[in-house]
Amino acid sequence: MANEDQFKKVISHAKEYGYVFQSSEIYDGLSAVYDYAQNGAELKKNIRDYWWKAMVQMHDNIVGIDASIFMHPTTWKASGHVDAFNDPLIDNKDSKKRYRADVLVEDYCAKIESKIEKEIKKAQKRFGDAFNKDEFVSTNPRVLGYQEQINTILKRLGQSLEKEDLADVRALIEGLEIACPLSGSREWTEVKQFNLMFGTKLGASAEHAMDLYLRPETAQGIFVNFLNVQKTGRMKIPFGIAQTGKAFRNEIVARQFIFRMREFEQMEMQFFIKPGTQMDWFKHWKEERMKWHLSLGMGEDNYRFHDHEKLAHYADAATDIEFKFPFGFKELEGIHSRTDFDLKQHEEFSGKKLQYFDHEDNASYTPYVLETSIGLDRMFLAVFANSLVEEELDNNTTRTVLKLPAVLAPTKAAILPLVKKDGLPEIAQQIVDDLKWDFNVTYDEKDAVGRRYRRQDANGTPFCITVDHDTLEDNTVTIRHRDTMEQKRVKIEDLRDIIKAEVDVKHWLKKMQ
Ligand code: GAP
Repeated sequence: MANEDQFKKVISHAKEYGYVFQSSEIYDGLSAVYDYAQNGAELKKNIRDYWWKAMVQMHDNIVGIDASIFMHPTTWKASGHVDAFNDPLIDNKDSKKRYRADVLVEDYCAKIESKIEKEIKKAQKRFGDAFNKDEFVSTNPRVLGYQEQINTILKRLGQSLEKEDLADVRALIEGLEIACPLSGSREWTEVKQFNLMFGTKLGASAEHAMDLYLRPETAQGIFVNFLNVQKTGRMKIPFGIAQTGKAFRNEIVARQFIFRMREFEQMEMQFFIKPGTQMDWFKHWKEERMKWHLSLGMGEDNYRFHDHEKLAHYADAATDIEFKFPFGFKELEGIHSRTDFDLKQHEEFSGKKLQYFDHEDNASYTPYVLETSIGLDRMFLAVFANSLVEEELDNNTTRTVLKLPAVLAPTKAAILPLVKKDGLPEIAQQIVDDLKWDFNVTYDEKDAVGRRYRRQDANGTPFCITVDHDTLEDNTVTIRHRDTMEQKRVKIEDLRDIIKAEVDVKHWLKKMQ
């Protein structure tokens, strides 16, 4: 399936199977705002729990908080968001469409990247088993030429953005002859900066209302609570504070479904460390976070690091974990060494000391911070898109399967009476009533059993349990595995352990070790 078709399929499957709906759809929707439906809410919760367990429960020195979305407005002055949380935007004079200038250039590079992918596929076909991808991409002149092109363009873009040389960003777009994707026109306006924060007001009367922002990241709720948590939790450096929660950004280019939203959720962890140790911790968290991703079994080839050449003014090292989405490799998570910038800024703006007294060194200092920051919605999209497959079966039919990692699947098992009579529905219902103490399970008696299997495959349910006439005789049922379609006869009393062995968080997280 072509990538674009695959992406369309992902979006329509997410709607058809109750995962993601357009927000306020009956009013024609709201751009880049989405609602998680009955299955989506469960999948999202399971991803959040999987992250929380790995970060908070499994680390003695990391605790979790839940800070408010509203924060004192000075927070955003101190953090730099009021002055510098901007995107460069450009308008097309003919279509009147507005774009992020950097995204136009990055999309141009993604097209060159897809040429590289094509070369790799061609060579793979030609050389078969003897094909060595690493060697090919590091020696093939055509691939090297494309890569050089990408590097040169991105380097110039990075430098121009860093220097705030917006005229050069425009010159780059014109030089590359980038056309408006909608109209094909190359008539561009100047590039301008646009602040991404949403403003709102707090207070009953217009004159006394206080201007507030909806938080554009959850991290600042952690920084301002650093000392409260350190003192009340008697935390010793190195230690971390984690949180998950909503963030809001007035994205100019809001597209690619739930990849870039205006209201989204982040899962962030700030790790407070001794100054000078940041590079060791940067390496540690890069490895640790990649292990977390790989533990879900979504394929090593689908991930890569992208180290930042252009660093934000507060960072001394930064990398993205990129995932291969249906529209190419894109940022899924950021790992940033943020120095002491944030705590120092909050000290300056609040006039309160935010220092740590190190008993071992008998000295106070402002800790450095290592941040891991992942978008929950992006992770959802990565998992969902990667899991959706169409399989050719032996009997020349196809089936659509959502091969979600079992630990994340919204429903762990569907219990199906073979027929709606002879006491089978009653037994199936008893199994549901028993298993639901431990897992999300569902009862399904509508349609022929084959169609029910297909429905559960498309829904991502790892197990189907069928109650038939033999069950009446020997208390056994058939358990069918979603991915292999293999069926086994097992005792009803063993069901809990069989399911647990495959869906238990421990079984999955242990793979990180
Ligand atoms: N505190 C650091 C921070 O917010 P970021 O790179 O701006 O860093 C972190 O965001 C992560 O949040 C990204 O890697 C991405 O997964 C997610 N994210 C950012 N903007 C998003 C948006 N508009 N929609 C969905 N996810 C977004």
